[in-house]
Amino acid sequence: MTLYGVGLGPGEADLVTVRGKQVLEEADVVYSPGRLSRSVALAHVDESKIGDLDFPMTKDEEKLRAAWKEAAAEIAPNAREGNVAFVTLGDPNVYSTFGHLRRTIDAFHPDVELEIVPGVSAVTAFATAMGVEIEAGAGLSLREAANGHSPTGPDRMICFKVTDAPATHEGLLEAGYDVTYGRRLFMEQGETLVTDDPEDIDERDYYTLAYAVKEDLEVEQATAAFEAEAESSERGASEDESTASEEPLADGGAVVTEEIAEGCTHGDCGGH
Ligand SMILES: C[S@@+](CC[C@H](N)C(=O)[O-])C[C@H]1O[C@@H](n2cnc3c(N)ncnc32)[C@H](O)[C@@H]1O
Repeated sequence: MTLYGVGLGPGEADLVTVRGKQVLEEADVVYSPGRLSRSVALAHVDESKIGDLDFPMTKDEEKLRAAWKEAAAEIAPNAREGNVAFVTLGDPNVYSTFGHLRRTIDAFHPDVELEIVPGVSAVTAFATAMGVEIEAGAGLSLREAANGHSPTGPDRMICFKVTDAPATHEGLLEAGYDVTYGRRLFMEQGETLVTDDPEDIDERDYYTLAYAVKEDLEVEQATAAFEAEAESSERGASEDESTASEEPLADGGAVVTEEIAEGCTHGDCGGH
């Protein structure tokens, strides 16, 4: 049978994918590496299915290796006999504990079948939460900014693990970035916050990220011209209103639009 690595998404239970939910419902045991992932999983499975794993809060690599070996030794027999799931917040392949489990299983239990169900990652969820568009062709780098660190270089960055926002902010500002912070985005647990003021989030919270974009970055978008067009037609309309006659239009005022040929809207087709 199979060990499934299931991405739960950023934290709201209804952002688990349909496939992820199905795998959780069908699994015999569901393992979770932390309190938050456990609470999201519990929205979909009964507590009796949750398997216990013990992870020490340490950076000691020897102890971590021992803990992962122990976790793999607990999971592997269950994954041979039935279906088990190991859940992580976001996506299992993005900065995730699942990587450790996969490597340990590959090394010591290579006969275990493994499948991954992707999840909505904070890497993409932040854009919606912050109302940011990463336009086609733009570069976007992923960095870490723990303990006040300020990574610099790329035009646009997502910084994970912003645990000291005021200190990180200082460095990013100095390097010429505009920065927006997101805390507990799409999470049921805790207060969601989007702000450009680091003092709003000066208390440490691991579930905090930053979106930093070079302040002088210029982006040319073909459709950006629509904004100016819309503004000028709005202006025109209000001028027309003030000069409009009371006479009805001869054709009843109907607006005739042309249908766009299906399959060639230059939307999802990528503009050919
Ligand atoms: C180890 S990474 C895990 C990423 C996860 N696997 C994913 O794909 O989203 C943890 C970091 O991701 C960011 N993060 C994850 N979920 C978040 C959320 N809902 N809101 C804000 N930041 C989040 C935080 O910066 C946190 O320190």
